[in-house]
Amino acid sequence: MPALEAVLSRVDANMDDALKRLFSLLAIPSISTDPAYAPDCLRAANLLRDDLESVGFDAAVRPTAGHPMVVARAKSGASGAPHVLFYGHYDVQPADPLDLWETEPFAPRLDTTPAGKRIVARGAADDKGQLMTFIEACRAYLAEGGLPCDVTVLLEGEEETGSPSLPAFLDANKEELRADLMLVCDTNMWNRDTPMVTAMLRGLALEEVTIRAASRDLHSGLFGGAAVNPIQVLAKIIAGLRDDKGAITLPGFYDGVAELPEDVAEQWRAIPFKPADFLGAVGLSQPAGEAGRGVLEQIWSRPACDVNGISGGYAGAGSKTVLPARASAKFSFRLVGKQDPEKVLESFRAYVRKALPPDCRAEFTRHGASPALQLPFSSEALSRARRALLAEWGKEPIIGGSGGSIPIVGDFKRLLGMDALMIGFGLDDDRIHSPNEKYEMSSFHKGARSWARVLDALAN
Ligand code: BES
Ligand code: MN
Repeated sequence: MPALEAVLSRVDANMDDALKRLFSLLAIPSISTDPAYAPDCLRAANLLRDDLESVGFDAAVRPTAGHPMVVARAKSGASGAPHVLFYGHYDVQPADPLDLWETEPFAPRLDTTPAGKRIVARGAADDKGQLMTFIEACRAYLAEGGLPCDVTVLLEGEEETGSPSLPAFLDANKEELRADLMLVCDTNMWNRDTPMVTAMLRGLALEEVTIRAASRDLHSGLFGGAAVNPIQVLAKIIAGLRDDKGAITLPGFYDGVAELPEDVAEQWRAIPFKPADFLGAVGLSQPAGEAGRGVLEQIWSRPACDVNGISGGYAGAGSKTVLPARASAKFSFRLVGKQDPEKVLESFRAYVRKALPPDCRAEFTRHGASPALQLPFSSEALSRARRALLAEWGKEPIIGGSGGSIPIVGDFKRLLGMDALMIGFGLDDDRIHSPNEKYEMSSFHKGARSWARVLDALAN
């Protein structure tokens, strides 16, 4: 097994080339939700397969009902080495709204700021830059003589649409994908110099509702006052979802939501977190969730209900006196604890149906549902990772939660019984899913070094 120091120096020496490789991946608009970009998703998968082969993996692009998976395998020279499965995703969110980007989203560039260099492109942080940190660590190991662990890499192209093909793929390839531990690089650091291991993620249930009333759009003078307006019906439904204290009103919604155990609450109180800074960074000042709960609690351990988009009627330039025939909205429920996503959606649909006035109909489209994830707050793998991260960053990692969701980590637990170590190098201000997404060069570089150390720590 190569010496860790040699591997770390190799990572450092490779950085310029690593950046070029990342830029070729970032140049591909692998937007999974839009069928028009399916050829680009395939291109990204092919590029990653070729890259993994150049590192020394046996790699293949594997078709699914949706976008393909990339599966790669490399064995360690050492006998009895642990087997890890690394998961990442090569798909990205749409770049909209395009006019808010300072430069083209799929023309990656390096921006120099007083705080350091950063990579700017859609997918820079979520998740192409992050997944490449792991591949670069493996490249350095293989160039120096071999990996300390057996490594399987699984890269999917549908994470941003809720991984519809992944459960069936896992089920069909159980034996091949089963490993001692799963590694995931799709989460954040605590801040730019403090690493974090994420032990809890919120679940997610997505549902779209369309409300229809009249058989066609109407003149709002000739019919206004007499005809029901689906936008206003929808608005009332949306408004009724939360009470004055910010609690969600759906019957049974809080089933399975537990109060934070006192020991965890105590750990969280010790975390240096300033709500005013967190909100201030995005131009806000007041927490808008359930009254009486801290901001960290609101995003890590309490559920939320949000409207992600709303449409209907005329929203173009000028005015139009129209009374629309339909209105629709997309909802997301972030779930915690043992909340059952199916029950939440059932309760939501029942609430909407009950709120419908005469002549209105509701149609529902489901866009995926997954429960919250809770990993152990202490384990052998976690303490090894902790030491590795401390060595790289010079700071004890925070063991925390995140309000985001990576539904498949739970599937691995349920279908293959595997725990995961979620270690990511993203920052809260990376603007993932927003215009001008970026990834710090320090995240990319020290992220790759961190994985080199984590693999070493897991093996020894
Ligand atoms: N990597 C993110 C989730 C994330 C970001 C977790 C930062 C922790 C810290 C992931 O790619 C993502 O955005 N997931 C989606 C879920 C999906 C089903 C659309 C999400 O959370 O909205
Ligand atoms: Mn994402």
